[in-house]
Amino acid sequence: MELRRVREGSTSFLVPVAGGGSDAAPQKAPIFYNPSTELNRDATILLLSVIQPSDYVDAMGASGVRGLRAAKESGLKVLINDHNPLAAKLIDENARSLGIACEITRLDVNALLSSRHFDAVDLDPFGSPAPFADSAIRAARRFLFVTATDTAPLCGAHLKAGMRRYFSSSMNTEYHAEVGIRNLLGFVAREALKYDRGIEPLFCFAKRHYVRLHLRLQPGVRAAERTMERFGYILQCPGCPSREEASGILPPCRRCPHCGGEMRPIGPLWLGGMQDRSILEAMGSRLGGMRLGTARELSRLLALCRGELDLSYHFDYHNLARYANRTPPPAEVLLDRLMTMGFKVCRTHYSGTAIKTDAPFEEIIRALSA
Ligand SMILES: C[S@@+](CC[C@H](N)C(=O)[O-])C[C@H]1O[C@@H](n2cnc3c(N)ncnc32)[C@H](O)[C@@H]1O
Ligand SMILES: [Zn+2]
Repeated sequence: MELRRVREGSTSFLVPVAGGGSDAAPQKAPIFYNPSTELNRDATILLLSVIQPSDYVDAMGASGVRGLRAAKESGLKVLINDHNPLAAKLIDENARSLGIACEITRLDVNALLSSRHFDAVDLDPFGSPAPFADSAIRAARRFLFVTATDTAPLCGAHLKAGMRRYFSSSMNTEYHAEVGIRNLLGFVAREALKYDRGIEPLFCFAKRHYVRLHLRLQPGVRAAERTMERFGYILQCPGCPSREEASGILPPCRRCPHCGGEMRPIGPLWLGGMQDRSILEAMGSRLGGMRLGTARELSRLLALCRGELDLSYHFDYHNLARYANRTPPPAEVLLDRLMTMGFKVCRTHYSGTAIKTDAPFEEIIRALSA
């Protein structure tokens, strides 16, 4: 296997050269490594340095990059696992050359997570984390981190796959990134609830082809009940841009306040906050002192996430301008107008033309026309 040396953060390690050279698809390599998800890893390394769990398991390690970096850059006690024997061997070589004393296993992830406990568990599978979420919750004492790359089922583009994996009835809307994060949050929360545990999102975001969750798990029935209160639906009118939230386990029947159409429920999913703003602030303060390759992008992501309203949908104001046959002003102008009209408003971390606001869409159209 041909290897090449790469560096992320302050950690240098070997990864395989994919079939057709360093630009080839990461999935084609005998051991997976995708340089384009460095920000996903930087985000976790930065968060780990803030929350300092007593130990961390990189349960699906591949090259071991996450666990190696958690040990070297965040100073944590680490276990790195992968069932692929080639991966386990490479992780061992990488750990030795870095002088890192971590435990390395080559178990099935569900077997590992059903037999041990860790303060922080990290799941980074190919595609959906659904088959591993139950054991990850049981293994995690305080923190759970999850990546999902099956964005089509999560976001509503593959409706039946979304129902099977996440037991949520989705819809492909302009706010699909938001729906993707919230469907995954809802699913993971349900997996925790059955053990009388709750979840508290710390830092959750959507980027290109993946959704990434960083969560704190909380013990006890009261925590689980608080988590249950965060469940609900986004109601979307099929006939006009009207949308609203409705909390609860059962989908409500409501008529669109604009056109009278029957609102369609998307969910059940997670409503409300997806970020712990004090954690994001602490991460922002530490960012300058760490050597992270995506520091600039991460800093922008943190700032946008911190500023986001806890609303479960957004409006794409370019789409709304087209709908109303208006020329869209620059986003900042529209935001100012809506604030002057007394509405809450913010940008989002995943789209430059998305705005979150408590204004109904007719008021946004009024602001577009001002
Ligand atoms: C997407 S890769 C992990 C990438 C890595 N965490 C990173 O940041 O570069 C998923 C890894 O999970 C491993 N894997 C898949 N199913 C597994 C299972 N059931 N048990 C253990 N490892 C598994 C694969 O061998 C693969 O190396
Ligand atoms: Zn309507």
